[in-house]
Amino acid sequence: MRILVLGGGGREHAIVTALSRSPHAPEIFCSPGNGGTAALGTNIEISDDDPAFICEWVERNAIDFVVIGPEAPLVTGVADMLAADGVPAFGPKAGGAHIEGSKAFAKDLMERYDIPSGRYRIIGTYEEAEEYLREVGAPVVVKADGLAAGKGVTVAATVQDALGAVRQCLDGYFGPAGELVVIEEFLEGPECSLLAFTDGETVLPMIPAQDHKRAFDDDEGPNTGGMGVYAPVPVVDEVTLEAMTAILKKTVEALKADGIVYRGVLYGGFILTGEGPKVLEFNARFGDPETQVLLPLLKTDLLDVMRAVAEGRLHEIELEWRDGVALSVVLASGGYPGTYAKGKPINGLDEASRVEGVTIYHAGTALGADGRLTTAGGRVLDVTAVAPTFAEARDRAYEAVDIISFEDMHYRTDIGLKALRAQGDD
Ligand code: GLY
Repeated sequence: MRILVLGGGGREHAIVTALSRSPHAPEIFCSPGNGGTAALGTNIEISDDDPAFICEWVERNAIDFVVIGPEAPLVTGVADMLAADGVPAFGPKAGGAHIEGSKAFAKDLMERYDIPSGRYRIIGTYEEAEEYLREVGAPVVVKADGLAAGKGVTVAATVQDALGAVRQCLDGYFGPAGELVVIEEFLEGPECSLLAFTDGETVLPMIPAQDHKRAFDDDEGPNTGGMGVYAPVPVVDEVTLEAMTAILKKTVEALKADGIVYRGVLYGGFILTGEGPKVLEFNARFGDPETQVLLPLLKTDLLDVMRAVAEGRLHEIELEWRDGVALSVVLASGGYPGTYAKGKPINGLDEASRVEGVTIYHAGTALGADGRLTTAGGRVLDVTAVAPTFAEARDRAYEAVDIISFEDMHYRTDIGLKALRAQGDD
């Protein structure tokens, strides 16, 4: 079986790693891939904003199955075009991916189907924003409607800050993504991600995961794509897990009632409030870095699950998980999430990957013609450790981190501490 995986981050390296362990022994191509996926398959370059070209490449190269990692090709309709060509793919069609591609669409869906989330207003002009903010005050969250590479969300402590964020969107800072703005209630509580596989009928939740979005320890500094993650999440009890699962199921049913059969991963970003879990955001794909802790814990063959999703027979699958926990520390380039240099040689990877229970996923790396691995992005590596306890997982992951070096490397030192505290072990 020949598989094409679209994407080139840590998420895709984790997906390619899991697929490469499948008993079906697929031959894997990855576009654009990274230094890690190059070791498990063949990296190729096909622009992911040209669905027609992707389909042509897939046909020319006799690809049997396509896994769409990032949101952009989902939103542009790559799954739709592949379906029209009769090629099975993992990832929702554009109508379903709209749940991530338009915050206004997601909020409207949640309101119509009574899915718990913060109060909000969709804004198209500065005057509307002024009027709404006079009514609700601050703090609020201001979100560009469309995809803004993870940058379109501002938590505004004052009305002035909120208006500044609205102005930034409407003035085109995020391009067409900011033509509409969602102003949303600021909700307080621990955050948690619950992802589920779904074929539009059956919904199989994964294990809850805890991302760390801020750049520095103690949740300080600017927002990033995620600086570390662990799973499962000790603050999530059975009741909360059931409530989050019910919300994901209700969302899949709501989409179906609107004529959208959603097939792929539905990612629920939740906030655990005193009134129960509420949805902060939906994503139409695997999370990054959540995937780097979820897939190492998944015992069931990922390829079997993905094909069952694509073929609408997920009811045949029962997900099995390994015992223990997984924790991942992101090693980033100095300056990230702002500007950063690329091309820095990376040292110590072979030795670090020999630490017990550790797998190192590449995110922004490139393999030079001379075989040297260098930095090629903001988030460079995800050092993942699987262990029986969070204390051991932290020890293993940070032991490996201490062995790795590249110029200006930065990372958080507190990944997993919240889990230890929740368990009373700190
Ligand atoms: N971890 C956040 C995301 O994947 O969007």
